[in-house]
Amino acid sequence: MNRFTEVDARAGEPDSGTGRARGAAAAGADNAPPTGSGSRRVPFSRPSIGEAEKEAVLRVLDSGWLTTGEEAAAFEREFAGAVGARHACAVNSATAGLHLALEAAGVQAGDRVAVPTYTFAATAEVVRYLGADPLFVDSMPDSPNLSVAELQAALAGPAAGAPPKAIVPVHLCGLPCDVAPITELAEAIGATLVEDAAHAFPAELSDGSPVGSRGTAVFSFYATKPITTGEGGMVVTDREQIAERMRVMRLHGIDRPIWNRYHGIGTPWEYDVVAPGFKYNMPDILAAVGRVQLGRAETFRRRRVEAAHDYLRLLSDLAEVRLPNDNPGHAWHLFCIRVPAEFRDPIIEGLAVRGIGASVHYRPLHMMSYYRKHYSLSNRDFPHATERFRETISLPLHPELDSADRLYVVESLKQTITECRRGSR
Ligand SMILES: Cc1ncc(COP(=O)(O)O)c(C=O)c1O
Repeated sequence: MNRFTEVDARAGEPDSGTGRARGAAAAGADNAPPTGSGSRRVPFSRPSIGEAEKEAVLRVLDSGWLTTGEEAAAFEREFAGAVGARHACAVNSATAGLHLALEAAGVQAGDRVAVPTYTFAATAEVVRYLGADPLFVDSMPDSPNLSVAELQAALAGPAAGAPPKAIVPVHLCGLPCDVAPITELAEAIGATLVEDAAHAFPAELSDGSPVGSRGTAVFSFYATKPITTGEGGMVVTDREQIAERMRVMRLHGIDRPIWNRYHGIGTPWEYDVVAPGFKYNMPDILAAVGRVQLGRAETFRRRRVEAAHDYLRLLSDLAEVRLPNDNPGHAWHLFCIRVPAEFRDPIIEGLAVRGIGASVHYRPLHMMSYYRKHYSLSNRDFPHATERFRETISLPLHPELDSADRLYVVESLKQTITECRRGSR
């Protein structure tokens, strides 16, 4: 059954760029433009923005209320309905959402939080915001997701230390983690589970339930994500206490929503600050865009799944390419292949020459200088993530990618691999 309603036909805009580039055309530079000299361009990512999103923004601009209000509340209700969550808390980024969720779970200075090393910076930096320490965990040999066996081993050794206060598995690329054994482990050690679902909307766990329908999960609406508000995020939870704390802490620690203060519910100036909170609320301008995108989410996903299945079929005969795992619950936010390590950069360059934006997701955090130095980490401790990083390439995958684009990407990839084989690239 379709859990979303299509409210807008396909309406792509010319490639307007999707905002910030995360560094150079290297690890995770989602928006790095292709450097090709030919006429054909296949951007790595492109948001699908139509007339309905523009009308929604204008409606809010004309309303006289720009910040968090009725639109954000409606987006929260609709998003909670879409994933089957009890509570939803709209925020201005998934990073903010992860920070709030861990704070609400009681993570404090000196605590430890288990996170995969194979993820984007945000997953671990929020642990540092709270003065806690990330406990990095390697990925599985055949999946980019966190290895529960590795986590168990890290907690069992003689030098294991105190158990982590929280575990943050990431549904990387939109591939759902097997959360059952992680939940079991979390319960056994008294840790809170916070799923980083930045890539995973909509997605389903192995029992068919939507990611976000149980526990606490954080979604991203960053410009390249499965649905976007430009910047934004949503935390969903089935725990009343976590929801209540996040609602207070996302707006300065004020004890009631700002919307109520200006709409005749109490006096605007009478409020209390119960904790030194943050400024993480989602403005109505963005929430209005999010509501339209939510209505288009299932259509976007259908197109991404179609593109991913096309890639899987068309690339199946290439000896040098290892394909990502298919999975019925996959959101297919990213399509990451693996190639021989010595071919990776030449292939990305060869694709760029042909006007195709490819990227690398991600350089693992144990290879980032801050974490490497601060926690004395070594590649030897994370062999699977290290090897995956050296071999991985993300191909373009977005709802605007049509079958001709896909064929062009596949043909270009085959050409660059032939060049690599010959040593001419
Ligand atoms: C795995 C993961 N977690 C968290 C985030 C943070 O999302 P946001 O940009 O909405 O803060 C990202 C962003 O790319 C991500 O890839």
